Amino acid sequence: MISYIAFEGIEGAGKSTAISAVESYLVDRGIVVTTVREPGATKVGEQIRSILLDQDIELDAWAEALLFAAARAHLVRKVVQPALDRGEVVLSDRSVFSSLAYQGGGRRLGVDRVRMVNAAGLGGIWPHRVVLLRVDAKTGLGRQHVADRIGSEGVEFQDRVAETFDSLVESDPERFAVIDASQTSDAVVQAVLREVQRWL
Ligand code: TYD
Repeated sequence: MISYIAFEGIEGAGKSTAISAVESYLVDRGIVVTTVREPGATKVGEQIRSILLDQDIELDAWAEALLFAAARAHLVRKVVQPALDRGEVVLSDRSVFSSLAYQGGGRRLGVDRVRMVNAAGLGGIWPHRVVLLRVDAKTGLGRQHVADRIGSEGVEFQDRVAETFDSLVESDPERFAVIDASQTSDAVVQAVLREVQRWL
């Protein structure tokens, strides 16, 4: 059954709007939804998040990748799996696929190596489906409100992230729905809801 859905995209792709729309849509239909964000959503995760996004911290790229993986292992085991066991739908603002794209591609650590360090902690619990909100780096950065440590990397970094997301879709097309996020937010929401209806 498809019940763990992640929302992905570069900065400014409009994930938050899409997630709230899907959440309302499901709740209105009596479906119990647990919404989480990565990194975060647990006490440990939020503390790790504050390290990861702190503009004043200089962090080695592998330390960064492992902190994302640590926050994720905790979240998936403590929150996501129990919610799935209760029969709920889990909506996730980012997921392991962000690590593949940002740390694997953006930081050039390699998608396969980042996949490997994440896999142990995830114990097989990967998002069943991923909504990829696709927008070019310049448009995305132009929409960004506040830049965090990773969001403030330049256009070239964001381009690498976007390209890596595209390659992930290519190698695993069944898992992804790619939505053109340069459309109006209404059009994006409608397109996302259509995919979710198809899946559930
Ligand atoms: P997020 O809170 O989604 O911020 P934004 O609104 O900018 O999308 O994510 C925080 C930042 O962390 C964002 O720049 C993407 C980055 N990130 C990674 O680099 N790797 C990861 O595994 C995750 C989950 C996020």
